[in-house]
Amino acid sequence: MTTKRLILVGEGERFHLTNGSISYAFRASPEGILEHLHFGKAVPNIENSALEPRRPYRAATLEYEAQLNYLLDDIPQEYPVFGRSDNRVPTLHGINADGNSTLSPLYSRYEISSEKPLLSGLPSARSDNSETLTVFLKDSLFDLEIRLQYTVYAEHDVITRSVELINGGDQPISLNHVYSTNLDLCAGDYDLLHFRGSWAREFEQERHAVPHGRFVVESNKGASSNAHNPTLVVMPKTTDEHHGESVSFALLYSGNFAFNVEKSEFEAVRINAGISPFNFSWKLNPGRSFVCPEVAQVYCDSGLNGMSQIWHSFINQQIVPTQFVDIPRPTYLNSWEAHYFDISEESLVSLAETTRDLGVEMLVLDDGWFKGRDDDKTSLGDWFADERKFPKGVVSAAKQVKEMGLKFGLWFEPEMVSEQSDLFASHPDWIVQVPNRKPSTGRQQYILDLSNASVREYLFERLHAFLSSGEIDYVKWDMNRTMTEVGSTAWSKEQQQEVAHRYMLGVYELVSKITEAFPQVLFENCASGGNRFDLGMLTYMAQGWVSDMSEPIGRLEIFNGASYFYPASTMASYIGPQPSHQNGRAVSLQTRADVAFFCAARGLSLNRDDLLDNNEALKSHLSHYKSTAQDVVEGQLYRLLNDGNQVAWQLTSRDGKRVYLGYFHILSKPNLPLRRIKLIGLNSDAKYRLVQPAWQHGQPSYSGAELGNYGF
Ligand code: DGJ
Repeated sequence: MTTKRLILVGEGERFHLTNGSISYAFRASPEGILEHLHFGKAVPNIENSALEPRRPYRAATLEYEAQLNYLLDDIPQEYPVFGRSDNRVPTLHGINADGNSTLSPLYSRYEISSEKPLLSGLPSARSDNSETLTVFLKDSLFDLEIRLQYTVYAEHDVITRSVELINGGDQPISLNHVYSTNLDLCAGDYDLLHFRGSWAREFEQERHAVPHGRFVVESNKGASSNAHNPTLVVMPKTTDEHHGESVSFALLYSGNFAFNVEKSEFEAVRINAGISPFNFSWKLNPGRSFVCPEVAQVYCDSGLNGMSQIWHSFINQQIVPTQFVDIPRPTYLNSWEAHYFDISEESLVSLAETTRDLGVEMLVLDDGWFKGRDDDKTSLGDWFADERKFPKGVVSAAKQVKEMGLKFGLWFEPEMVSEQSDLFASHPDWIVQVPNRKPSTGRQQYILDLSNASVREYLFERLHAFLSSGEIDYVKWDMNRTMTEVGSTAWSKEQQQEVAHRYMLGVYELVSKITEAFPQVLFENCASGGNRFDLGMLTYMAQGWVSDMSEPIGRLEIFNGASYFYPASTMASYIGPQPSHQNGRAVSLQTRADVAFFCAARGLSLNRDDLLDNNEALKSHLSHYKSTAQDVVEGQLYRLLNDGNQVAWQLTSRDGKRVYLGYFHILSKPNLPLRRIKLIGLNSDAKYRLVQPAWQHGQPSYSGAELGNYGF
């Protein structure tokens, strides 16, 4: 527990959140506006007036409440609103019953607690060794209370923020735009880094200058995140992998989101983020509250690798379910690329024999096992075993697999329903839809309306029926299309723009209920690969299928991009077939195995010929995976090189005794210059012995100083 205070309150009211490494500071101005003072390297105190925002004379200034030179457009703020001389993108825009859209919340009081309350209905980071400050703002005209919650951690250079709005009046307030965070940086030239992509090429990194005007990344698909991951880095132009400052953000949210980066006329940079305001509005009835998704923010001054270390340890220790922290993941063989929909008890048991012989620890029965599911046109929603394929049921097949000494995993796509299914025939009103428009299909399926409690109850009962058998060790939770025709029969006409967010609240309710009921079951989050790879889902499911791209060269960029925020412990990877089913490239088994090595959840998804032809080599890779599983789940990962053609990563075991170096050269040429790669964080005086394949003779040793300062 914390013994040192992490939150200091000075006169004025000045709030200083500091763990001795970073400081986050703000104050209530004499007018009651929450002014941001500092987020960066720790400062000893924040009483110094040098931190206060200036109030320079500017030509054509608007004076807030007649205060001389007090122009909110020019003031860094904690929770800026629309309409009172700040014309930048606000964190909050709402309308009261009088049609007034000018909010003006002012500071009223604060509370400090050593317990961070978990958010109601939304994922939240745990709060070991932390303190939480809640600042209360009040808008008396709107009868609205705003609670800004900040948590500072003793052992992580992270601040988490969340916002709750409470309608204390007797008229509804319409919330049109309500973000989770705002950070106003001093005027300057900054770069931003974000991760964009598409199916099977997630996490492509893009770095460019913060432009004048506004740069937005968002999702309005009803899911984060293959087009844009809900994470962002802003940094001075000089920051690189090994040096320099950055601030970075990750939303704990898996639905529609937006990040805005705005450079104002005075060149100050504003970053704010939260639920996407597009097609969103929320009717906040009297006495009710609205909670915004949580956001985590990191400051780091040791380059992007340093930033990643902070995210990795925070996600490992405060985000992923406690029962899976530092727990090695079983190696697994997934039936998908061996059988696709053509799976049965007989073929599963035969695959289990191969699985056992190869030394794989778990067999996963992917798609195709439930009633009538012979292709992707039918049956989603009918979560009953197909009696033609599994006459004694899936649980009985699972038992047989387990009797062979293996763990057993099962695939579900709970949020979906096929038009051709018993479920859709009996409940056509249970899908996400709008009146008088034919719903679009995606992979020939509709989305079940998880904002509807009856839908959630049905799904919980179906999943419970399988998991309560005790035979299922792992669930792959898939989700293969995004939202269209967003609407729900469960909500009133005036609440239809709440549906996308209510859907996410429904998903979180279902996944928290099911994961709490079966804490020993390892859940893997998959959404056509990485379409919902975010801190929200990771709060319930310890690992995710980063991408459907299982071909290793295609994976290099994806894994490299994901590693800026996400640790190896959260990522799953296969040795896939060759040529690859995604891009047709043929790559050696060695390279397929070496790239997959850097994810904690490692497995195989191969067809039978591949499995048989490569039997001995696969055995050797799997035995290596097993003996290194602890190091990969808890080790430190660094990016050493990425020039588009060569990529190098380093993974160091927690005790620092083993260092794994991955170097991948995509297209080579003859007679290339020799390059040296400098390793990071080694003990200078220690000797490191090179363990290399038998055909390369000898096991030379190098000192940590040589490897770090001169290179390998
Ligand atoms: C999409 C996933 O990404 C695949 O791995 C596989 O599970 C299929 N769905 C099954 O339909």
